Amino acid sequence: MAEEKLRGWDFWKSIGSPKYVCAPMVDQSELAFRMLCRRYGTELAYTPMLHSRMFSTQPKYRKEQFSTCPEDRPVFAQFCGDDPQTVLAAAKLLPPGSVDAVDLNCGCPQGIARKGHYGAYLLSEPDVIEGIVSTLDKELSVPSTVKIRLVNNHELQDTLNLVSRLEAAGASVLCLHGRTKEMKGQFTGPADWDAIAAVRKRVGIPLIANGGIQTFQDVERCLQATGANAVMSSEALLEYPALFCPTRSVYQDELALEYLELAKLYQTPHKQIKAHMFHFLYAGLQLHTDLRQAFGEAKGWDQINAAAMAFQERRRQDRELGNPWPDKGWYMRYREPLGKKRKADDAAGATEASPKGDDVKVPRTEPNTPESNEAESV
Ligand SMILES: Cc1cc2nc3c(=O)[nH]c(=O)nc-3n(C[C@H](O)[C@H](O)[C@H](O)COP(=O)(O)O)c2cc1C
Repeated sequence: MAEEKLRGWDFWKSIGSPKYVCAPMVDQSELAFRMLCRRYGTELAYTPMLHSRMFSTQPKYRKEQFSTCPEDRPVFAQFCGDDPQTVLAAAKLLPPGSVDAVDLNCGCPQGIARKGHYGAYLLSEPDVIEGIVSTLDKELSVPSTVKIRLVNNHELQDTLNLVSRLEAAGASVLCLHGRTKEMKGQFTGPADWDAIAAVRKRVGIPLIANGGIQTFQDVERCLQATGANAVMSSEALLEYPALFCPTRSVYQDELALEYLELAKLYQTPHKQIKAHMFHFLYAGLQLHTDLRQAFGEAKGWDQINAAAMAFQERRRQDRELGNPWPDKGWYMRYREPLGKKRKADDAAGATEASPKGDDVKVPRTEPNTPESNEAESV
């Protein structure tokens, strides 16, 4: 059976050559969120990272961490691990036919990944990654894919060597986050789209670019600058799930309420729902700190929903009164002011330098929303 499966471009075409991708996100790219994103332009979504050893040995973990539905396609299930047989055993426990591909996480930079010997800490051990990818490619009925970061930022050749080896090992699709594992938290910094472009030229399989996406304009710019086949977003999509839908205007408070219905339908744990609320409503909650507290203290779905309705009413009043909102969204919380080149690129759109040139104002905390469109039209 494994010989007959589609790989590389044939596989990519079979899932509709997606351009807009929802990133794997622990506790956040769960079914309800994926389904919300799909309503607003997302064409491919990853599950949150699943721990292969826990998934293969703990039925409770499996039940809690993986869920899908027929409309949740195409979907890639992402695993972490350092042992080919363990990752394979985990992937084989996915319900038959439930996913389109199995992805290996080689991008997680967190301390827990260092301790667990997985994620970006495997980037310096290409033999290990290669062994897992070739095992998955040979043994699974669906293609195997890999999500990586830049191996380092002083020697691009290391990343190029790695991607060639992964392609040769049987990876059908690669996703490259254009940052190194050291670039996280307050050290996040800009993503290196030139490096992604170099990888695009090196490999002959579909490539997804990741990193540096704040607005839909960034999506288009990234596709052009890198030549990648698709763009993946994580943080900007968490803040604005309609990121990939430039043609439809929708407020974040509406998206929050829409998400809540999906979260109820798919029985999303309350902790995850709350985290989504803080991401969707980040800017407004800087202003309405009492509602931030209400979300924090909410005990179950009903109370979270009540806080979201109160938020929407507050937002309506603010709009009516013309009250300004904080201009810094969640995506920008660690970001440095943008460089000169980017400011020039953005002259028509999302960002604007302050008169001193040392700060950046981001008028679109709600990209593509009715407000941002209004702002553009004045
Ligand atoms: C809340 C959160 C959870 C994440 N979980 C995962 C994960 O499970 N697997 C993974 O490969 N990357 C994970 N990431 C990293 C993202 O997939 C993505 O590579 C990174 O955020 C850069 O994309 P961005 O610039 O669009 O945010 C996570 C990121 C966030 C913000």
